Amino acid sequence: MSKIAILGAMVEEIEPILSRVENINKISYANNTFYEATYKGKEVVIAYSKIGKVFSTLTATLLIEKFGCDMLLFSGVAGGISPELAIGDLIIADGLCQHDLDITAFGHPYGYVPEGEVCIPTDVKLREIAKEVARTKGMTLKEGIIATGDQFVACNEKKGWIEETFKADALEMEGASVAVVCHALNIPFFILRAISDTADMDAGFDFDTFLASSAKVSADFILEMVERV
Ligand code: ADE
Repeated sequence: MSKIAILGAMVEEIEPILSRVENINKISYANNTFYEATYKGKEVVIAYSKIGKVFSTLTATLLIEKFGCDMLLFSGVAGGISPELAIGDLIIADGLCQHDLDITAFGHPYGYVPEGEVCIPTDVKLREIAKEVARTKGMTLKEGIIATGDQFVACNEKKGWIEETFKADALEMEGASVAVVCHALNIPFFILRAISDTADMDAGFDFDTFLASSAKVSADFILEMVERV
């Protein structure tokens, strides 16, 4: 049976999950807390990494290498880029790129370093399960590219550049680093985000206002998926 990692970046992103799982065993490790638990008979390990690419790389690696997870589901919030995405809407990543990775001085495209790739695809089967959940629940699920960087984007110009350069539909601060880890370790992974803001000049205010409600939309959806994997 699969041991499923459920990862968020912030405590608000995993709280709605922790409140619904059973048989919790709390483990402190590497300045973080990992929660082994069960949900409807499935074994899960839940954690939040803290914000950004470095912390999410560390936590995703530990979930796989130390806690033995063989599948990873990320749940959280994102800034919307696509005009189709309003606050509270869900997006699943079909691919993830790092918008702040730049060695263009050497003739490489944005987001690329030698022996890496600009865009890392997520697991097709997990995406299919998500679409099935959305159909059953009558929910709209957008699928698209998510761009990741170590910056909270609150500026239309920056947002426009990320959209043009990566054809991205949403942006956040952890997805692509989790993708690098899972891709390298051959672990099927899935990135779900509910929109908390639209990365414009109101983004800071909107993020604070909608973090908890949007994080819950994403978390509830992830638990529906856990039942089906
Ligand atoms: N996560 C949610 N909103 C975001 C934004 N505007 N920039 C970066 N990460 C985010």
